[in-house]
Parts: sequence; structure tokens; C-alpha cells
Amino acid sequence: MKVALAYSGGLDTTVSIPWLKERYGADVITVTVDVGQSEDFDEIEERALSAGASKHFFIDAKKEFVEQYIKPCIKANGLYEDEYPLGTALARPLIASKVVEIALREGCEAVAHGCTGKGNDQLRFDTTISVLAPQLRIIAPIREWDLSRDEEIEYAKTRGLKLDFRQSRFSIDENLWSRSIEAAELEDPWVKPPYEAFKYVVNPQHAPDKVEVVEIDFEKGVPVGLNGRDMPLGELIHELNILGGRTGFGVIDHIEDRAVGIKSREVYEAPAALILIKAHKDLEKITLNGKTLSFKALVERVWSQMVYQGFWLDPLMDALHAFLDATQENVTGRVKMELYKGSARIVGRMAENPLYSHEIATYTKGSVFQQRAGEGFSKIWGLDTVISATRLARRKSS
Ligand code: ARG
Repeated sequence: MKVALAYSGGLDTTVSIPWLKERYGADVITVTVDVGQSEDFDEIEERALSAGASKHFFIDAKKEFVEQYIKPCIKANGLYEDEYPLGTALARPLIASKVVEIALREGCEAVAHGCTGKGNDQLRFDTTISVLAPQLRIIAPIREWDLSRDEEIEYAKTRGLKLDFRQSRFSIDENLWSRSIEAAELEDPWVKPPYEAFKYVVNPQHAPDKVEVVEIDFEKGVPVGLNGRDMPLGELIHELNILGGRTGFGVIDHIEDRAVGIKSREVYEAPAALILIKAHKDLEKITLNGKTLSFKALVERVWSQMVYQGFWLDPLMDALHAFLDATQENVTGRVKMELYKGSARIVGRMAENPLYSHEIATYTKGSVFQQRAGEGFSKIWGLDTVISATRLARRKSS
């Protein structure tokens, strides 16, 4: 049996190679997808082949990740449970679709991935694979095998696998949009994540004592420039991760509800994602009317949940994307932010076609708003409440 394995190069997917060969007599083809994780991809290829893969594929999907996944996330202000910008969740369907592509091209019978049975990633992989190629069998060695990390290391040793990769005590999943950090002492929700867990974010106490001003340009809801310079979105995200992290901004630490029902303590760093979503949200407030904003908040919540729970390819997503796109027509302008020692504060915004009108809003003399009309409006506005209160007063006095 030929199997295409989604291969990250980490411990789980590396031990999966000999295991698939032993358990299923499989011919294992490994596929590594670049979604902006900083890895040595040559080293990963070497590791796969030396662990027993018969063939290795490398796919650079960074551009697709930015265009098809991160852009909608910005338009949706996508934050699961108001905190997590969904980096891992967004990358999974993309990785799965690339592995399926290779599997079909190479005539594989099955697709394999390194997800455990306790996480969300299995749902994202399995659903995507089943939608795209229902005929492919799905094998998840780690889920099936149920080994602890120590047992995996033991197994790797007995199979003579090269475990020369830098072992971190944390389990890390990285891409351009966010970096998820799990395991070790982080499993205790009370323990503060050590700064060594982070790649971008420094201890704010050690950040430069200087306010970093950033100005972000948006066009129809998409970031297109930084500090007055036009920039492709991928580059802009990369720059903001470095710039924001350097000021000590960009850590997320919250208790998350996994789709499988487990509450888990999740730690992320995502300076760029948090800055961009915050800025985008702010620009929407000056360009979208109140009714659209309040309805859009509902859509954002559903969008984030759908992505988190592995439903990227569900037809509802197309409908949500159509709505989101329709709202972005006027979300063009600039947002100014100050980053300083762990905080990111919006200090100004301007839009090409704002709904904000100084003429209407001003408290100074020249306002075109007819104040007198407020008297009748407010009488009728409160009518229902006043009538109810009057009835109550009547009942109490009788
Ligand atoms: N809790 C996050 C999510 O479900 C991050 C998961 C990290 N995944 C991993 N394989 N380390 O999206």
C-alpha cells in the first residue's frame, strides 16, 4: 500500500514512517508543506528519507496561505473565543489539500497525518481529506498507536532514527500567522509561560524604552502597506511579527475550548495577526454603519468557530465569505498604532470614504445636526419604557 504522509519533520511524524512500514507494509511518501514555519527544509527531507520514506515532496504554499486563508481571516477579524487568530486551524486544510493532491498524483491508497486523538487538528485533516478524496483511507498513527512522548522517543531509538533535531520541551506549531506553544509546564494554567518559549516576543521589561509607531494601509479590508510603503501581505506580516515582538507585544494566553470537549490552556505568539486584526476592526468602525457592524460580529463568531472546528470546506463558508467580501468595499484607509512595552494602542485612523462626519459629530457651532429634532426623537425612543414604568407605578399605588 502506498501512503502519503503529511510530514512536519517533528517527532510524531518521524516515528510514523517506520511504524506505517511495519504495521501496514506501506510504501511511505512524505509531503512537507511550507506555510511560513521557519525550518530547514533540506534537513527535513533528509530526515524523512533516512527514516525510511521512499520519496519526499516539498510544497511552498506560503502565497496560497496568505491569499486564500489569511486574507479572509483579517476580513473576518477571526479570533476564536475572542483571542486566538487561528493560525494552526487555518493551515490544516491547506496542508491536507496539498497532501491529497500528491496522494492522488502518486496513486496512493491512503493519506496519513500525525494528529493525536485529543486535538482539533484531526478534525481539520480528516474532514478536508474526506471532502476532497473520500476514496482515500485515512491513517493517523499517533491516534491509533496511543504512545506517550517518551515511548515515542524510545521507539525512535530502537529504530535508529536520527533524533538530532533540536528538542524543545514544548510542542510547537508554527506558521506565518501564529505560533502555537503547548506542553511541559504550560499544562498548568497557573504557570506563567517563560519568555524562552517565544521566538518574536521579548519580555516587555527588556523592550526598548521607545514608542514604536506603525501605520497600516488597507484596501478593501486587506493590508497593503506599512509605514507608507506598499508591501505584499506576506512580507508585511513577517515585518510586523518582528517589529511587534520586539516591543513585547503579541502573546495570547487563554483557556480554550477544543472541539473534542477538552478545556486546554493555550499559549500563542502572533504579534502581526493581533495588530492587523485590531487595526482592521478599527477601520471598519469608521467605514461600516452600526447595523452592519453588529451583524458582522455574529458572522465573525460563526466564521471563527467553523474554521476552528475543521469546517473550512463546508458550503456555509462560501456564504460567509460572500458576506464578508460584500462588507469590505469601503474598508480602505490608514490606521495608526503605538506599540510600547507589551501594549498596542490605536491612536488614529482615516478612511477614503468614512461614515464619520465631523460636520455632524462636532459639538462646536457649525454642526449641521438639528439638535431640536432630538426632543421629539427621544420622547418616542423611550416611550415603551415610560409606559411600562407608569403601569408599575399604578399597580403599586392601588
Ligand atoms: N489549539 C490550537 C488549535 O487547535 C493549536 C494547536 C496546536 N497544534 C499542534 N499540533 N501543536 O488550533
